[in-house]
Amino acid sequence: MNWDETGPDTDERPDERLVQADADGEDTAVEAALRPKDLDEFVGQEKVREQLDLVLKAARARGATADHVLLSGAPGLGKTTLSMIIAAEMGAPIRITSGPAIQHAGDLAAILSSLQEGEVLFLDEIHRMSRPAEEMLYMAMEDFRVDVIVGKGPGATAIPLELPPFTLVGATTRAGLLPPPLRDRFGFTGHMEFYAPAELERVVHRSARLLDVEIDVEGAAEIAGRSRGTPRIANRLLRRVRDYAQVKADGRIDRPVAAAALGVYEVDARGLDRLDRAVLGALLKLFGGGPVGLSTLAVAVGEERETVEEVAEPFLVREGLLARTPRGRVATPAAWAHLGLVPPQQGGKGQQGLFGA
Ligand SMILES: Nc1ncnc2c1ncn2[C@@H]1O[C@H](COP(=O)(O)OP(=O)(O)OP(=O)(O)O)[C@@H](O)[C@H]1O
Ligand SMILES: [Mg+2]
Repeated sequence: MNWDETGPDTDERPDERLVQADADGEDTAVEAALRPKDLDEFVGQEKVREQLDLVLKAARARGATADHVLLSGAPGLGKTTLSMIIAAEMGAPIRITSGPAIQHAGDLAAILSSLQEGEVLFLDEIHRMSRPAEEMLYMAMEDFRVDVIVGKGPGATAIPLELPPFTLVGATTRAGLLPPPLRDRFGFTGHMEFYAPAELERVVHRSARLLDVEIDVEGAAEIAGRSRGTPRIANRLLRRVRDYAQVKADGRIDRPVAAAALGVYEVDARGLDRLDRAVLGALLKLFGGGPVGLSTLAVAVGEERETVEEVAEPFLVREGLLARTPRGRVATPAAWAHLGLVPPQQGGKGQQGLFGA
């Protein structure tokens, strides 16, 4: 066998969630290895990169701590990566925590009071912080001060505690959920967009180099085109294609190898996976393209309502294959075309014709 040093990760089951963007355990380790380390290595996001570059350069020139930064955008677009780059560019240490990890204001006070001057505090999923912690954060961000409450009840007293200047980097997939007072305290907000295919190709080439995998231009394009605009997915698909190339080919990745490999993992040419196609297929074949209620659609594909809504739909909506309307879910003409079916109006055959299509 010819496993490379990252080991036989082929013993993973073909993962139905191969194209979903959330990180799982194994991914976290590989992701760390594939993370760009500075702004120059960070692919795409030209606007955010240019703006952030100015913020950081100016702070460095003043010998000051950089302003607080909020990074928003869908999972897997590079928020965590960018936060680490911010620390690296500032030559500062980074402390990593997350909203859900901070249950009590006291937890936050403990972290804040142990920060060094200039340190970057990365607060992931900042929209999921508790209310009291959030209020403590307001003051910490603005005045570099927290009130530590000592004692309970009427005898409780607030002891003010000075903090060294630090840079808060908050990340969120749901910027809309942040209370305005919190949002307003960030000196810079970077919104991460989905990546263009050419940018994802660069990500794939870069990762292939780091993983020591041979890939040609067309192979990288094939993977990039199925990666839903998301670097994390591009990296994950690359690893699955690498497995296939090792087992079924000579280890080199070209277009036919990439296409065949992703076929095995049921990722289609547009990046839809089994669940996406099941949802779309049910909508078209069982409900004539809708409108149909979310719950009914979920039952039809044997999934939880939340799974359909949060896992499958965002991408289908973004791709213009499905629309959420007040009357229910509706397939677009592109959806019919993608599954190779004929819509009833145009086909004029009604339901019958659809099943035969
Ligand atoms: N601009 C980029 N250039 C190259 N690789 C990238 C880029 N952005 C992200 N990646 C890769 O994608 C992976 C996921 O990125 P990251 O963990 O930063 O996403 P995230 O936005 O923090 O996601 P989440 O919301 O799930 O926490 C990283 O391993 C990194 O290698
Ligand atoms: Mg992250």
